[in-house]
Amino acid sequence: MNCNDIIKKLRTTRNAERGELIYLLENITDGEREVLRRSAQEVAQEHFGNKIYIRGLIEISSYCKNDCLYCGIRRSNKNAVRYRLTPDEILSCCEHGYELGFCTFVLQGGEDPYYTDDLLCELIGEIKRKCPGCAVTLSLGERSYESLQRLYDAGADRYLMRHETADKAHYEKLHPKELSFENRISTLYKLKEIGYQTGAGFMVGSPYQTAATLAEDLMFIKKLQPQMCGIGPFVPHKDTVFRDEEHGGLNLTLTLLSVIRLMNPDVLLPATTALGTIDPRGRELGILHGANVVMPNLSPAAHRKDYSLYDNKICTGEEAAECLNCLKGRMRSIGYEIVKSRGDYAGV
Ligand code: 5AD
Ligand code: FES
Repeated sequence: MNCNDIIKKLRTTRNAERGELIYLLENITDGEREVLRRSAQEVAQEHFGNKIYIRGLIEISSYCKNDCLYCGIRRSNKNAVRYRLTPDEILSCCEHGYELGFCTFVLQGGEDPYYTDDLLCELIGEIKRKCPGCAVTLSLGERSYESLQRLYDAGADRYLMRHETADKAHYEKLHPKELSFENRISTLYKLKEIGYQTGAGFMVGSPYQTAATLAEDLMFIKKLQPQMCGIGPFVPHKDTVFRDEEHGGLNLTLTLLSVIRLMNPDVLLPATTALGTIDPRGRELGILHGANVVMPNLSPAAHRKDYSLYDNKICTGEEAAECLNCLKGRMRSIGYEIVKSRGDYAGV
C-alpha cells in the first residue's frame, strides 16, 4: 500500500496495521499530507462544525516530586522557581475565567503532595458552587485509585494524563527508574473505569522516539479509546539532560494530529501550546489538521514564567483575557469560532 491508500483506509475503517502506520509516518510527502489534512479536517467538521472548544488552563504548582528527564520542573532542577497556588487563588482564577466565558477549568501541576485529597475535594466543591455548570478537569499526575475515586466523587469530571509513550523501553529512557510504565498505563484504565472523561497523549519528537514507537502510541490510543488526546512537540528545556536535543517537528506533529483524528473521529483533540511554541501559526495549523480544542492560560500572570516545562513557552506575559482574545482572533482568521459550551465528549 502507498501513503494515499493508507490514508483512504484510515478514513474508511478508522484503523490501519502497525506496518502501515510506520510506512505512512516514514514516507508521507507534502502533497500526501495535504490529502491527509483535508480528510482529517472534514472528519473534525462532521463532528464539531467550525466550533472550537476552550479550556482554561490553571497551572497550580511548579513543585514536582518526580524527575522526568525531559521536564523543566523535574525535582532535580535546582534552577526552577517553585510556587504553588492556594485554594483561594485557584478559585479566583476560575471565577475570573467564568466571567470571561470559560466552562472548563483544567487544574494542572507537578506531582505535589501539598494538594491532598481533602484539600482538592473541598476545592472542587467550591469551584462547582461558584461556577455553576462548569466542568473541572484535573491534570495532577499519577494518584492512587482511592484518591482518583474520591476526587471523582467530589465532582471532578475529567482527568488528563499523557501516557508519554506506549513503548516500555522508550518510556524507561525518558523517566527515572522509580516511575513505572505499567502503573502509568493502568492508571489510565482506572480513570476510565471510575468514569472520568480521560485524556491520554504523548510528545512528538521526544528523544529515542521512532516511527515504530509512534505507531505503538497510535494503536494504544485506538485501544484505550480516551475521550481526549493531547499531543504536542517535545521542546528542550535548558536545565534538563535533553537540553541539546532538537525539538519535535511541525510536520510530524501535524501528520499525527490528522491520523489521530481519522482513527478517533470524535476524540477531543487540542492544538497545544507547545505546537504554538515551535511555530507562530502552530495552533491554527493544528486546527486545520483536525484538532478542535484550544487551552488558553488562566494562571496568574505573576507565576506564568515559572511553570516552565520547556523553553520559550508562549503566552507567559499575557493576562487571561488577552490570551482568550488572541485565540478568538486566530481561530476567526481560519474560519473557526470559539464557543462557550462545556464541550463534553459526545461519543459513545
Ligand atoms: N516539551 C514538550 N512537552 C513537555 N511536557 C513536559 N515536558 C515537556 C517538554 N520538554 C508535556 C508532557 C506532560 C505535559 C504536561 O507536558 O507530555 O504530560
Ligand atoms: Fe495566550 Fe495568544 S493564546 S497570548
